[in-house]
Amino acid sequence: MFEIGKKPLAGRLLGSIRRIRHSLRAQLVASVVLTLAVAICVNLYLSFRSATAAAQLVSDHTLLASARVIAEAVRVDESGTVEVDIPPAALEMFDTGFGDEVFYRVITPWGNLISGYADLSSPRVPLKGEDLTFRDQGVRAIALEHPVVGLGGDGTISVTVAVTHGSQYAIRRQLWLSDFNKQLVLLLLAGVVTIVGLQRGLSPVLRLRDAVRQRSRDRLDPFPPAMVQTELQPLVHALNDHMVRVQNQMAAQRRFVANAAHQLRTPLTLISTQAAVAAREADSLRRDEALQALQKSTRQVTRLAGQLLTLSRAEPGSRRPRADTVDLAAVARSVLENAAEEALRRNIDLGLDNDDPVRVTGDATMLGEMVVNLVDNALRYTPPGGSVTVTVRSSRKTAVLIVEDTGPGIPEAERKHVFERFYRVMGIQAEGSGLGLAIVREVVDGAGGSVELSDRPDGGLLVAVTLPLGGTA
Ligand SMILES: Nc1ncnc2c1ncn2[C@@H]1O[C@H](COP(=O)(O)OP(=O)(O)OP(=O)(O)O)[C@@H](O)[C@H]1O
Ligand SMILES: [Mg+2]
Repeated sequence: MFEIGKKPLAGRLLGSIRRIRHSLRAQLVASVVLTLAVAICVNLYLSFRSATAAAQLVSDHTLLASARVIAEAVRVDESGTVEVDIPPAALEMFDTGFGDEVFYRVITPWGNLISGYADLSSPRVPLKGEDLTFRDQGVRAIALEHPVVGLGGDGTISVTVAVTHGSQYAIRRQLWLSDFNKQLVLLLLAGVVTIVGLQRGLSPVLRLRDAVRQRSRDRLDPFPPAMVQTELQPLVHALNDHMVRVQNQMAAQRRFVANAAHQLRTPLTLISTQAAVAAREADSLRRDEALQALQKSTRQVTRLAGQLLTLSRAEPGSRRPRADTVDLAAVARSVLENAAEEALRRNIDLGLDNDDPVRVTGDATMLGEMVVNLVDNALRYTPPGGSVTVTVRSSRKTAVLIVEDTGPGIPEAERKHVFERFYRVMGIQAEGSGLGLAIVREVVDGAGGSVELSDRPDGGLLVAVTLPLGGTA
């Protein structure tokens, strides 16, 4: 039971951590709080050191005062005996309520003990406080050299006073704690200011988010960049640019659907009329004529539907991208074989110029559709008696497919338009829907290549497709 209950909890916890890691607000708060925490730790360490120094100074002053009072009490009597009567005030000044123990030692210039603890050692430098150990406990000690009238030698006695650390540590704690409290208030204040600041800083972004969410599907007018801070305005500009692209795409899509519907409606209306005429016609000859016309219109609409389907398949994202190794020469050969009958019927000399396999990488079906449309155009627009030649060759890094014909060619001004969907050059008699070259462009783009139209030296059109060379397998 416990194990079962534990997993979702761990999962929830992990989820929360992941959410926090991806939250801008949490990241900003964490970075501010972390920086502050590090600064405060350093500050607390420094204030601990200064509190220690201040407490030592207070302690050293008291020790020195006590040592002075003791030194003043040292006397040499007429017989030359050195004696000291320790004044109670000298020791009472340490009675600060922290239970500190006081130790002292007074010695002659020759090192003889006058009074106090013989085993109390002296700090190395006179008048300077030092932490020592006396009888296994830590003490703060100070030494004082004091001249005494009537004393032999160099005439100075040495007084050492030491006290346990109770009072010194209490002063240090007091000083440090008051500093700690100030820092804590500062940290809390900084935290609150940061969170309030963040809330205010993030609110335009949240407003933008809500505005985007609340938009209906068809509202694509731009957001005012001034609704967010200057630094975030490029994001709004990018969002607006994206919406313009979506708008254009939607308009293109609408135009395409309208065009397709229009293109389909014309032959379908014709089919309906032709069917009605055929059904009414009593004369068998005229009925046959009507039926042939009906057949032609049906072929036309079937081809249009086929072209529409091919175009939608050639569009990026509509098929799973394929990376077949395709021999472009074999593709061209197979297309020409299928077109041979039509070429013969129209008395056009159809030929392939190729020696070796030319391998490219891409979608074999779509590359086939590309060649079909180019050859279809060449045969369709070339008058009987002409010729169509397909050349497939490879250069160092590219594969080149050239389709040339002896037809009328495409005027310079029309060349950039013929790749548009449903675009047909005015005055062209041959049937067609204006989708073939659009399909070619989509396939070439999808395969990472380029397509160019130019004039053949002897008249006619030359279409050159360049594709990157594929694997050699
Ligand atoms: N080889 C060519 N010679 C002369 N004109 C051409 C040739 N290929 C294309 N064109 C012109 O470019 C236009 C667009 O060609 P595209 O292949 O896109 O459409 P289509 O042939 O009219 O119709 P579809 O191929 O969809 O049946 C054609 O209408 C024609 O005017
Ligand atoms: Mg065509």
